[in-house]
Amino acid sequence: MRLRRARTLVVEFAGPSVVIRNFMGQKVAPADGFVLEVLSRADDWQTPEALCALYPHVPAETMDACLRDLAELGWLVTEHSEAAALDAEYETGWAWEATAGLYHFGIQDPPWLDPVQSTQWMQQISATQPTLPLLTTNEGLEHVEEMQRPDMEQGLFATLKRRRSIRSFEPGSVSKDALRDCLFAGLGVTGFLNTQIPGEDPWLPLTMTPSGGARNPFEGFVYARSVDGLEPGIYHYSALDNSLGFVSEDLAISTTELFAQQDWTEGAGFAILLVANFDRTMWKYPHPNAYRVVLMEAGHIGQNILLAAADHGLAAAPTGAVTDSAARTLLNLNRVRQSLVYAVFVGHAAPDAFETKNFMAHPQS
Ligand SMILES: Cc1cc2nc3c(=O)[nH]c(=O)nc-3n(C[C@H](O)[C@H](O)[C@H](O)COP(=O)(O)O)c2cc1C
Repeated sequence: MRLRRARTLVVEFAGPSVVIRNFMGQKVAPADGFVLEVLSRADDWQTPEALCALYPHVPAETMDACLRDLAELGWLVTEHSEAAALDAEYETGWAWEATAGLYHFGIQDPPWLDPVQSTQWMQQISATQPTLPLLTTNEGLEHVEEMQRPDMEQGLFATLKRRRSIRSFEPGSVSKDALRDCLFAGLGVTGFLNTQIPGEDPWLPLTMTPSGGARNPFEGFVYARSVDGLEPGIYHYSALDNSLGFVSEDLAISTTELFAQQDWTEGAGFAILLVANFDRTMWKYPHPNAYRVVLMEAGHIGQNILLAAADHGLAAAPTGAVTDSAARTLLNLNRVRQSLVYAVFVGHAAPDAFETKNFMAHPQS
């Protein structure tokens, strides 16, 4: 059995203490100078005996206990273990270093609040912190150019204006055409760019949403609960030929479980799940800034899906509150290269879905 230092460790300060965080396993614990030294010397695979031999003055049982603790914390990984395979996958498959890795892996599976805890939290913050202005005006600027509002009753603006997040659905299946249009609006390939750049893919897929370097990192999966003429199940959308490939009939993981206990998701006819394939963007852009680019693209795709749903007169709402481990299980995602980033739920609006009385011009406008 050999051990080596996990590749996903960052050293931080917590007040006067030094702590180490394994952002893959999300464990944080204090570390002293000795632990830091052992970890730095375990850069490559070594037997516990070889590591112990580096410290002849330290009693063997103390050294054994130290190595066991470090392995338990996930700071040392054991050769041929599941953790070692994941660590190796990270080392070879994640080009965006700890800069983006800490964020990407470190925020997964947060302890989501249930509705009661969420209300309590809102009460707590509003009692201790004043609310912040959510808009910035031009008041005080030397010159302010007045502009008229666009005509929002027709054309593009009428559809843009119709979009609202609606989370209250009424039972009833959604048409396959509506599903097709939502998928195509977000992900459908409309043509190819012939790049003629040496080393670059000769044909870059172009869609109705922008993509950094046209790397097209997102794939769409459909969680189909109630769609006319479609067996319930999970489908993969092929953006190339606009087809749905049946992945699984198993909807055993509920959308409530998949999306942070949000049970409003259960009423929707379908959800489009946007899965990022980070390696597509990493291939061309090794700087961690590209991680931000991938996340932004989810917003573009999501917006087009929402607009297509609005155009069909359907209710839709997005969610970014993903229970990552459940999503990985459902869609069989690679832990390092893929993740479910964003999802849009679509269905028929319940009669009380949109409380127009709550949507009004600002009282001061
Ligand atoms: C990135 C992102 C994540 C969101 N996640 C959630 C979510 O998890 N649950 C939810 O109910 N709404 C979610 N929303 C919807 C917002 O709550 C909603 O857009 C906001 O209240 C404004 O309402 P509107 O969409 O009708 O303009 C999300 C919106 C965005 C842009």
